[in-house]
Amino acid sequence: MIARVRVPATSANLGPGFDTLGLALTLYNELTLAEADRVTVSVQGEGQGQLPATAANVVAQAARALFEAAGRRFTGVAIECVNRIPLSRGLGSSAAAWLGGMLGANALAGTPLDRAALLALAARAEGHPDNVAAALHGGLTVSCETPAGVLAVSVPLPDTIRWVVLIPELTSATAEARAVLPPTVPRADAVFNIQRASLLLASLQAKRVDLLHAAMHDRLHEPYRLTLFPWMPAVVAAARAAGALGCVLSGAGPSLLAAVAEDPGGVGRAMTAALSAAGVPGQARLLDVDTRGAVVEAG
Ligand code: HSE
Repeated sequence: MIARVRVPATSANLGPGFDTLGLALTLYNELTLAEADRVTVSVQGEGQGQLPATAANVVAQAARALFEAAGRRFTGVAIECVNRIPLSRGLGSSAAAWLGGMLGANALAGTPLDRAALLALAARAEGHPDNVAAALHGGLTVSCETPAGVLAVSVPLPDTIRWVVLIPELTSATAEARAVLPPTVPRADAVFNIQRASLLLASLQAKRVDLLHAAMHDRLHEPYRLTLFPWMPAVVAAARAAGALGCVLSGAGPSLLAAVAEDPGGVGRAMTAALSAAGVPGQARLLDVDTRGAVVEAG
């Protein structure tokens, strides 16, 4: 039995929706998992020669965790990864690895876990539900941790919005980008974010993209992360000046995500130039929203 899995990249937070919102994008990792009596891993593309080719590989750890959660004996798995999601850039590569490994192993084991159980397991392994939920469901996904598991729902997006991702040539560890966050925040900042996250979802639903410029602002994580990404205000200003509806840190960074109604190419060029002026090379990519989420085929 072989399982083939395709998992999208994801951009978490979208500004005010810290640890809650995730957007699936048309950039994919493809994994093949086959039953085996030991663990083997091959990696092509992003992370090739860098990610472990042993049982320490996250996809292999995910496969083992799935078997253990299902009460099955794990003997091994032969894993082949074709990775297109860049690592440690705030684009959900870790979520894709956990989710891809678990989805593939679940198929090999005869689908013992349903999607809700698998989402809870992957979110626990990954640490936060936002990327994992969006990668599983596709689209713009709201996720909510409850004592009974992770609730997740995808909401429709106006197809007039284009998404530009600026990927700097530097990496950042999520743990480090969380360590700079304070343990408590002022109530005014909490209210600021609730207003904007709610406005973001309402304006998307009402197709009022003109309101995104006010909605895509954050006070819970981005201001603190400026110590890690000091060039961010200049790039955001450049994106907005070039016509972006909003521009935010993608996940825990360092990538930035811009929502654009017109001339995404111009916005991408403006962002790249502002980043470059700050001495950091990077590449802007125009991506669409993935609406299918992770796909598994077994046979
Ligand atoms: N929401 C997380 C953060 C990243 O901003 O730290 C993705 O899980």
